[in-house]
Amino acid sequence: MRAAQPRSRQQTLSQRRRLIGSSCKLFFSNDPVKIVKAKGQYMYDEDGRQYLDCINNVAHVGHCHPDIVKAAHEQNQLLNTNSRYLHDNLVDYAERLSKTLPEKLCIFYFLNSGSEANDLALRLARQYTKHEDVIVLDHAYHGHLTSLIDISPYKFRNLEGQKEWVHVAPVPDTYRGLYREDHKDSVTAYADEVKNIIERAHKRDRKIAAFFVESLPSVGGQIIPPAGYFQKVAQHVHKAGGVFIADEIQVGFGRVGKHFWAFQLQGEDFIPDIVTMGKPIGNGHPLACVATTKEIAEAFAATGVEYFNTFGGNPVSCAIGLAVLDVIEKEHLQAHATEVGNFLMKLLKEQQIKHPIIGDVRGCGLFIGVDLIKDQAERTPAPAEAEYLITRYMGQSWSSSVWEARTQLQTTIQQSGQKRKQSVGKGTV
Ligand SMILES: Cc1ncc(COP(=O)(O)O)c(C=O)c1O
Repeated sequence: MRAAQPRSRQQTLSQRRRLIGSSCKLFFSNDPVKIVKAKGQYMYDEDGRQYLDCINNVAHVGHCHPDIVKAAHEQNQLLNTNSRYLHDNLVDYAERLSKTLPEKLCIFYFLNSGSEANDLALRLARQYTKHEDVIVLDHAYHGHLTSLIDISPYKFRNLEGQKEWVHVAPVPDTYRGLYREDHKDSVTAYADEVKNIIERAHKRDRKIAAFFVESLPSVGGQIIPPAGYFQKVAQHVHKAGGVFIADEIQVGFGRVGKHFWAFQLQGEDFIPDIVTMGKPIGNGHPLACVATTKEIAEAFAATGVEYFNTFGGNPVSCAIGLAVLDVIEKEHLQAHATEVGNFLMKLLKEQQIKHPIIGDVRGCGLFIGVDLIKDQAERTPAPAEAEYLITRYMGQSWSSSVWEARTQLQTTIQQSGQKRKQSVGKGTV
């Protein structure tokens, strides 16, 4: 192995500042940690200090999971190449993914990043519908490509602004949004916002290609849309000739615990037309996927223009993707997400009783949000306080109750893991 020359955190930081574009931000940028290794749920810095990794949305089955490392190593020793050669791994992987999805989503494209997947989803939608416009939720982020900055209010509001083909719908947030938990029918009210957008677009002779949404808006504030919202929106969008695209890049692969896909939280009767996947799919390996229907794939192929992606779906990527699915199943990780997530929510709710700054604790499995507020009446967000909280780390002086909660959480993660190991082979959790 080519070992890096040992150097201090400060040396690495100055080298990075000299060589890497300053818009590429580090976590905890005022005082970044230098992580040199990781195992399971823990990361370690150059001084051997251990961190419980609660923010990583990629190392889905645990850092350096031996089964993933082994799958990559074994396939690397055999073959890794351009994805235009016929290979079993690609078709086996597509087959396995298809078993996790509704039958209708039966055609797959493999790519290297979430952004690539969302860009392709946009192309598929436009080709199929022959329309151009896209409806997105406010505050959304869908990727770093030019096409996706255009549909990410989180980004375009700080850049050139909103394009004429982009329409922004309010986030279906029943805590702080337009229609709250006391509204008699927030599902219809939020879906009607989308219907109104479509009507206004039609009056301007614009045509809707897609409603593009994260199944659980993450960047938009860890929001859980009320069940039934997607069905109603899909009706309006389909009526306008558009398709429903579910971005599962952050929230797919069992993170929500009770379902494999977060869109399934909406109810069994809801099926998107296109699903995009990334981040956890390869446990850190650059891999992504778009799943869609036969009709949409056929419309895309009808142009006669080849879709070609050099690395997407190469034998190593697919071996890793298959290994990730095996581990999720073998180690009952959906049950683990439910167990640990419920426990973490319980701890956070205990803190909420003690601290009025915690306005809301919401979540599902290991998708959890803590909403800090300045006042109970208006629920005004407290961004400075949130920033302060998320940039504090273990070395700083936390109160004893926070330490106690952290220790309890670590114990639950470990116990849940042990229980799962004991149950492997018995088919129980
Ligand atoms: C919801 C969502 N979609 C798309 C992307 C883009 O994925 P990538 O960074 O792999 O291109 C991200 C990345 O943060 C994301 O959170």
